[in-house]
Amino acid sequence: MSVKSKSRSVKSDRAEMPVVARQPSPQNPLIIAITNLKGGVAKTTTAVHFADYLGQLGETVLVDSDPNRSAIAWAGRTAPENSQFRVINEIQLARYSGKACCYVIDTKARPDADDLKALIETATLIVLPTTTSGDDLRVTAQTAQLLTQVGSQIHKALITKAPTQAGSSEILEAKKFLQAEGVSVFKHWVRQYKAYQYAFLEGVPVYQVKNPKAQDAWKDYQLVMQEVLNGD
Ligand SMILES: Nc1ncnc2c1ncn2[C@@H]1O[C@H](COP(=O)(O)OP(=O)(O)OP(=O)(O)O)[C@@H](O)[C@H]1O
Ligand SMILES: [Mg+2]
Repeated sequence: MSVKSKSRSVKSDRAEMPVVARQPSPQNPLIIAITNLKGGVAKTTTAVHFADYLGQLGETVLVDSDPNRSAIAWAGRTAPENSQFRVINEIQLARYSGKACCYVIDTKARPDADDLKALIETATLIVLPTTTSGDDLRVTAQTAQLLTQVGSQIHKALITKAPTQAGSSEILEAKKFLQAEGVSVFKHWVRQYKAYQYAFLEGVPVYQVKNPKAQDAWKDYQLVMQEVLNGD
């Protein structure tokens, strides 16, 4: 993330400190795990934007537990002093336990039952990003089923890369499919914008990309995070 691109826009593009119903703290941290048996459904993109948002609330750590280290690669292009959050691997986690108020865990595609059990034992919320494609929805429902089997009551699907056209029925149909499979779904969703790809390439959160749709894209994650923190 270039220092140049970060400097001003951060303050102007971000709202003031969000008002939250439940203020996470080191004693009572928010621990959000992002997972799915399916790859390419925006797990890392979601993890980075959640962590960036939560960085406004207090010390936030993004734990990159994907061997591909995509989140670390993303933030590796960031000057640490300009970052809203830190990205670390599992080994470095011990240094932060009891210190941060928020943790976001990005996982690899195809977690096994043991990985999922570990997430349930650790997380306060498990987010399953999915696109509206039939196959992604099917595998997301399978992931939710596996989570339920190992005792989770804390997982929720998030629709990502959703069509931008107003009135598209795809989002409603995707929600209906998941709900019929017994999966809770976030009320808000994240639309598909090229700006996310530029964000990854530049190693910045989407609101720092110079693209006409960058702020619309960031708004989607802001709404989802408000739903996480306030339930609306
Ligand atoms: N809302 C979006 N709009 C457009 N492109 C997106 C969006 N979210 C993610 N992408 C793009 O989709 C691709 C996959 O995203 P990402 O790497 O976050 O998925 P992933 O689930 O972490 O993948 P993997 O399983 O490989 O770890 C990337 O090129 C990313 O830029
Ligand atoms: Mg990833």
